[in-house]
Amino acid sequence: MSEFAEQLKKIRAEAVSVLQKVSDAKELEAVRVEYFGRKGKYTLTMKGMAKIPASDRPAMGSLSNQIRNELTQKIETVASQIAKKEREHQLLSERIDITLPSRHSQIGKKHPITQTFEIINSIFHNMGFQIAEGPEVELEYYNFDALNTPADHPARDLQDTFYVEDGIVLRTHTSPVQIRVMEQEQPPIRVIAPGRVYRRDYDISHTPMFHQVEGLLVDRDVSFSQLKGVLYSFAQQMFGKKTKVRFRPHFFPFTEPSAEVDISCPFCQNGCRTCSGTGWIEILGAGAVDPNVFKSVNYNPEEYTGFAFGMGVDRIAMIKFGITDLRLMLENDMRFSEQF
Ligand code: DAH
Repeated sequence: MSEFAEQLKKIRAEAVSVLQKVSDAKELEAVRVEYFGRKGKYTLTMKGMAKIPASDRPAMGSLSNQIRNELTQKIETVASQIAKKEREHQLLSERIDITLPSRHSQIGKKHPITQTFEIINSIFHNMGFQIAEGPEVELEYYNFDALNTPADHPARDLQDTFYVEDGIVLRTHTSPVQIRVMEQEQPPIRVIAPGRVYRRDYDISHTPMFHQVEGLLVDRDVSFSQLKGVLYSFAQQMFGKKTKVRFRPHFFPFTEPSAEVDISCPFCQNGCRTCSGTGWIEILGAGAVDPNVFKSVNYNPEEYTGFAFGMGVDRIAMIKFGITDLRLMLENDMRFSEQF
């Protein structure tokens, strides 16, 4: 046999054994280049064809073709085996276990204060009140002067009020919204104003920021007994049909006469810790709008009368939901808010 033929057969045997050990596409490509690349073993050997005597050429041509076809075929077979293996591997590695339980994201809950606001708003909405809002950073004029609270009134003390700068305070109650509404509109007026208020107070039962809902009704011939009726209806809807309401005479600069209003303690018959043993819990202040307040918004006090009230939402939320510690309200602990 010619040396040329020897060489080709040696290449075939070697390539076949190398191909058996190939395990991935990169290796396979390297083998293909090693034999059939421009400087590959087969390619270089074939350059020797020129030196073959003419008589031997047909036979050598056919042998070299056969070996090339055979090896090319083998390379293709190995290539498809590798592709198959890689696909299977990929499928396995990407397999999803659909029986695994899913991860739960925690769902938020409305804070009891927010829920209480919503209940209060809806009760008064059903009685025909509209919702008004005012700024939390408020002019001293609206917070005090226009509400008939003179410059020397103790509530204006630096000790009790956050002053932002001269003439500007963090509102200490929602009552200034009364003035803002009356400046904008003419009677009849029927609004509530829910919102945050601020006082320099921080102890077991006071936080520097707390919540109020103000109420204001102005019309011709408004009577104190209408105020009692509205607040009585509110108390019953808020705390249940058995709730009793008590008006105690009090003083507020912006109402005359004024009262503090208590509800019967929903937790006891004759005294418990929540009502400090009295059977009553104070929830709001109220009264007939003082004529001086009407004067400051250019309403004629001879023509119009009205009533106003302001309630503490934090207190009401604690009663409504049976929360005993005010501090819990501020901690934003999901274990707390999840309970309501
Ligand atoms: N503004 C008062 C306070 O913060 C509550 C209040 C009392 C509001 C009587 C009123 C009212 O509208 O008529 O304590």
